[in-house]
Amino acid sequence: MRRSGPLGLLLLASLACSTVAFADDEPRYPDGAATFKASCAVCHRPTGAGTPGLAPPVIVYPPRFASTAEGRRQLAMTVLYGMYGDIVVDERHYNFKMPEFAQLEDAVLAAVLNHVIFDLGHAPADAKPMDAATIAAERGNAMDGAAVRAHRNVAIEALPQ
Ligand code: HEC
Repeated sequence: MRRSGPLGLLLLASLACSTVAFADDEPRYPDGAATFKASCAVCHRPTGAGTPGLAPPVIVYPPRFASTAEGRRQLAMTVLYGMYGDIVVDERHYNFKMPEFAQLEDAVLAAVLNHVIFDLGHAPADAKPMDAATIAAERGNAMDGAAVRAHRNVAIEALPQ
């Protein structure tokens, strides 16, 4: 079999790119998209729509949380420490355990949340991208998933009506 040289590889690569480039579906946060696919989609589905009875949609509250300081803290806490306890999203109850992802780096967690907020969800105009510093700040406030669940009420109260 004849091996294709660098030029052949280049041609192949550009062909692959041109067929894969569907402008509107291109994620703004490709690294976040890759993490979401690898670590989150099994429960939250690739679209973020969730799995009834198991995991809530992440496209309802998280994009809204991104527009307030308490909401942004809530997002950081949820991925760092996980969450458990009953929550209601779109009139459905969820009460299963969100695992913790503190083993991932701050920038990786910020990117996966930005994918959720801006690529999967319809972020409100004043939503601010998550950054590594916001994640890092919550690493100093270790808590369990029940406390994260309790803070979620604070974050919801702080949402603009
Ligand atoms: C094993 C299944 C599972 C995996 C994997 C998982 N989650 Fe979750 N997630 C949950 C569950 C269950 C909840 C709700 C917990 C509760 O009821 O208190 C949740 C809640 C959330 C929330 C809060 C939603 C809200 O309305 O407050 C966010 C944000 C979130 N997950 C993001 C992620 C991200 C990002 C990842 C990947 C890094 C991920 N999840 C991986 C099960 C999962």
